[in-house]
Amino acid sequence: MNLLITGGAGFIGSHFVLRHVRSRPSDTIVVIDALTYAADKALLDPVMEKITFAEGDIANLPLLEAIVEKYKIDTIVNFAAETHVDRSIQNAVPFLHSNVLGVQSLIELCKKHPKILLVHISTDEVYGDLRDGEAPFTLDSTLRPSSPYAATKASADLLLLAAVRTFNIRVRITRCTNNYGPHQDRSKFLPVVITRAMLNQKIPVYGQGKQKRDWLYVTDHTDAVELVCSKGEDGKIYLISASNEQENIRVAKTVLDVLKKPHDLITFVADRPGHDWMYSLDSSSMRSLGWKPKVDFTEGVQEAIAWYTLQLEKIED
Ligand SMILES: NC(=O)c1ccc[n+]([C@@H]2O[C@H](COP(=O)([O-])OP(=O)(O)OC[C@H]3O[C@@H](n4cnc5c(N)ncnc54)[C@H](O)[C@@H]3O)[C@@H](O)[C@H]2O)c1
Repeated sequence: MNLLITGGAGFIGSHFVLRHVRSRPSDTIVVIDALTYAADKALLDPVMEKITFAEGDIANLPLLEAIVEKYKIDTIVNFAAETHVDRSIQNAVPFLHSNVLGVQSLIELCKKHPKILLVHISTDEVYGDLRDGEAPFTLDSTLRPSSPYAATKASADLLLLAAVRTFNIRVRITRCTNNYGPHQDRSKFLPVVITRAMLNQKIPVYGQGKQKRDWLYVTDHTDAVELVCSKGEDGKIYLISASNEQENIRVAKTVLDVLKKPHDLITFVADRPGHDWMYSLDSSSMRSLGWKPKVDFTEGVQEAIAWYTLQLEKIED
């Protein structure tokens, strides 16, 4: 494979790059990343000699064209996106740029190079939320995004599906639940809980912490994406989930228990506007390709804690 991985210096993309280089060392890998606040290029240091890294924006079509032609790219995996819901509530413009115009630029690229397979990483947040007791979202569920972030991701999915129909380009879409693990930007929920607990600082939890998220360890997600690249069908959507729904307060307490810290570090703060109540996904489309998650939640949290501990030690040095 000659692979272009976008957003490869971010949380999930960096794990995908590291694992792909190890499992398929003879593939050509080019990573493009705009190096926003969420990126950390150093995450790729262990494989930097085996990949080509380009700092750049996926909305820059001439740059994408030059990369595709120079490296004879046959597959693109698109992790590049603005991803922080709170930031999208403050200002949606960067989300429209990366998540919608950026994807349109990938579509234009694929129209010119119709043999390219584009695997696009979307999210379960395109479906909005569920109330307690409601059945998990399926491929037939209506798109009903709640946040500007989710609305841009849903827009991109619709643009891609329309391009499949109108221009016959090769696209596969994945929609995954909340990921956790090492490499995530420290402004996201689980890294906030872990790092603040380690520093004995108060841990802010929205509302009463009763919202439920369906947690998946990050490398279980990247393994699923690999399988979609190799065994998926063009034009199809794959829903990825561990069916591991947990209240945010439960997640915070799991971290505190692993770190042997008191639960009273948790402090409730005013809820996020439009905050989704619960996510849950029927992942039979993904499991039909032979995928299942491998990492147990507590074990995954321990891995994440070990990594953030190392990062804090580096900062203190
Ligand atoms: N984190 C999750 O829980 C989760 C769950 C489901 C789906 N997703 C999706 O997975 C993908 C990756 O998420 P993540 O958590 O790794 O995000 P992240 O914010 O950690 O990383 C995104 C990366 O994309 C880069 N980027 C942003 N805009 C760009 C642009 N215009 N051009 C090039 N690079 C750009 C950033 O610099 C960053 O390195 C996103 O599409 C997201 O919607 C994430």
